[in-house]
Amino acid sequence: MVGQLSPESPKSVRNEVRWLRVAFPHPGKRDTKSPSKDCSWWRNGTTRTIGQLLDDIDHAHVPPQNGAEIQLFRVFPVGLTTRMIVITAASGALGSLVVERLPANLVRPAVRHPRHPGQVRADYDDPASMREAFSGAERLLLISSPELDPARRLRHHLGALQAAQNAGVKSVVYTSFLGADTNPTSLTEAHHATEQAIIESGLPHTILRNPLYSEPFLPPRTASEVLSGTDGRGLNTAFRTDLAQAAATVLLEDGHLGRAYDLTGPLWTFPQLAAALGLPYREQTPPGPMGWLHTLARSGEFERQTGDLENLLGRRPIPIIPHAVE
Ligand SMILES: NC(=O)c1ccc[n+]([C@@H]2O[C@H](COP(=O)([O-])OP(=O)(O)OC[C@H]3O[C@@H](n4cnc5c(N)ncnc54)[C@H](OP(=O)(O)O)[C@@H]3O)[C@@H](O)[C@H]2O)c1
Repeated sequence: MVGQLSPESPKSVRNEVRWLRVAFPHPGKRDTKSPSKDCSWWRNGTTRTIGQLLDDIDHAHVPPQNGAEIQLFRVFPVGLTTRMIVITAASGALGSLVVERLPANLVRPAVRHPRHPGQVRADYDDPASMREAFSGAERLLLISSPELDPARRLRHHLGALQAAQNAGVKSVVYTSFLGADTNPTSLTEAHHATEQAIIESGLPHTILRNPLYSEPFLPPRTASEVLSGTDGRGLNTAFRTDLAQAAATVLLEDGHLGRAYDLTGPLWTFPQLAAALGLPYREQTPPGPMGWLHTLARSGEFERQTGDLENLLGRRPIPIIPHAVE
């Protein structure tokens, strides 16, 4: 006996993707790779064992309850096995996390310099490479170009969109930035124009407006104090792992086309972070681009909170503060 299964609601009713709650009464003793007759799940008319489910699941750990280890397993719908999903910039930090979260038989990582079997070449500066890489794809995740010059960055995105249309891609998911819809600033200029171009293209689409990533704000382990120029204002950053998970969910599920999600992580402040780490806090704006972000934070630019990331994840996004003290 591996554990008990019961449908996890309300996620079980969300689109086609079902969630299972699996309780393992004897943590550490289970062998989840072995199919067990006792652990079956009725899916699309077929009884599946846990071992079979492990081939096409995503999973999330939740804290132990009543001494039993609980895991949530997400079961991908059978119909999705025919869909090919292309991920651009798949060699990057975000792209590689998305690829990891998709079933291997559904994903085609598109990179500038292919190095691994299965990767295809798609250079934002080479439209022909993108057209070939995108051909036959049902869905495309267009990860925004890291190019800093807005005009060049936009050219990359427009080239990818055109290639997607030429290749007959059915729908596009684009990683934009919070506020790009209403407030085109230097941070969001190319994102705003890209969102407009996606809408005007008529391609079925989903926009993921990401917040700032949490990772660059984590102080080094050797830090003896925490400095910021934010005046104690909040930041709604999120970890790439959560943003990748949200992207994978949107790519795998039906029901997200025509939607835009404003993704925010739990609000935190630098003084709170310093207190959690037991370090002194001092107001001092760092040099360079990080200082610029701190100045924006000081004006309240990053304090917006929405439930979109939590809804896509089916759980609270990872907060920066417990992460920083681990
Ligand atoms: N929300 C935030 O806080 C934040 C922060 C920074 C960036 N971003 C944006 O989010 C995107 C993804 O973030 P990330 O952390 O994954 O960035 P990253 O780790 O720097 O990855 C950037 C990716 O872009 C690829 N790339 C660069 N030039 C290319 C070209 N001409 N054609 C095709 N691919 C090209 C790189 O490929 P190579 O491996 O070949 O270099 C790499 O895969 C970034 O590109 C940027 O637009 C967001």
